[in-house]
Amino acid sequence: MLIKGVHIENAAETSDIRVTGGKFEEIAPSLAPRPGEEVVDCTGKLALPPFIESHVHLDTCLTAGEPVWNQSGTLFEGIQCWSLRKKTLTKGDIKDRVHRAVRMQAQHGVQFVRTHVDVTDPTLIAMEALLELREELKDTIDIQVVAFPQEGIDSFPNGRQLVEDAVKMGADAVGAIPHFEFTREYAVDSVNFCVALAEKYDKLVDVHCDEIDDEQSRGLEVLAARAYESGLKDRVTASHTTAMHSYNNAYVTKLMRLLTMSEINFVSNPLVNTHLQGRMDTYPKRRGITRVKELLAAGINVSFGHDDLFDPWYPLGTGNMRDVVFMGLHVCQMMGYQEIMDSYKLISTNAAKTLHLGDSYGIKAGNPASFIVLDADNFYNALNQKSEVLWSFKNGRPIAKAAPAVREVLF
Ligand code: FE2
Repeated sequence: MLIKGVHIENAAETSDIRVTGGKFEEIAPSLAPRPGEEVVDCTGKLALPPFIESHVHLDTCLTAGEPVWNQSGTLFEGIQCWSLRKKTLTKGDIKDRVHRAVRMQAQHGVQFVRTHVDVTDPTLIAMEALLELREELKDTIDIQVVAFPQEGIDSFPNGRQLVEDAVKMGADAVGAIPHFEFTREYAVDSVNFCVALAEKYDKLVDVHCDEIDDEQSRGLEVLAARAYESGLKDRVTASHTTAMHSYNNAYVTKLMRLLTMSEINFVSNPLVNTHLQGRMDTYPKRRGITRVKELLAAGINVSFGHDDLFDPWYPLGTGNMRDVVFMGLHVCQMMGYQEIMDSYKLISTNAAKTLHLGDSYGIKAGNPASFIVLDADNFYNALNQKSEVLWSFKNGRPIAKAAPAVREVLF
């Protein structure tokens, strides 16, 4: 198959991409079609590595309004709504919703998903469902599963055992939620437990870290210190870290040294944290977004996640990562020309580092031919014009396509 005329990752010049046997064979300008070769004309369109959803909760997705709507939109009412919905949870229900969500994501160019799955449930039914789905969907979407203790590790009955059981079942990463633990001591112990478990079972780590407006919430320094000391380093991810928005600058200046040494990844979730954080404030209201701009400037890896998808905590969303970037650039004040141009990396190459996808991710000869084509010539225009993902190829096979939107002005 020959893809003609694409701008690869914002390149000014166009190239052709030859795909053979599911891999990128050749990438060069003006390749001549071979006899009988299928040609896909994408002249002037943008080719990017596939989008990656690096932080989502698929076990709760597509449940907004069931059985009641979150009228205040707050985290706490969201928890109340979910406790009602949770009673009707079955494996079939979870699998049906995740199938739908994953198809929505695929339509928007997502090919890799890291989902957190609540394991503070003695039945571990959601974990079981997601592990089955990981297998069932592996030819179209790569799913990573995090054992996520929503209600704590040391503050939930049998919490440690449940996390370990989920890891033994096959979770890819170990989670924790230090800011939710009863005490500071529990928070520290839970992070230590999480990191030790990852070492024991050779897993990645992804912690819901300081997702609160409390400037005293300092799970991040503990996580970064353990990542550094254990040598796990970039196998560790700190998700949310919204308290960092409220830390004083003197503390952040000191903290940045450790964060750089630790080499950990960050995932920020601009859609959800913009609306959930700052709810206890009157005015001015904090945005509650971690310091993305400063982390990136320090050379620290940051990606963006959708977090919730049409569920009790976030009543909107179609799985389109472009929306996440759009919001993130605003709230993080990353509106420089080059920042906008490069922002696709927040949902592609940076996220690939977080997910540890290795060298096989990316548009280069020899790699699996997984890429997407957008209806624009560069990402700046794709973002601004809300361009469709016209093609999503996974290992050389199309898994989603769309026709360019046709609009007419009648005057
Ligand atoms: Fe989350």
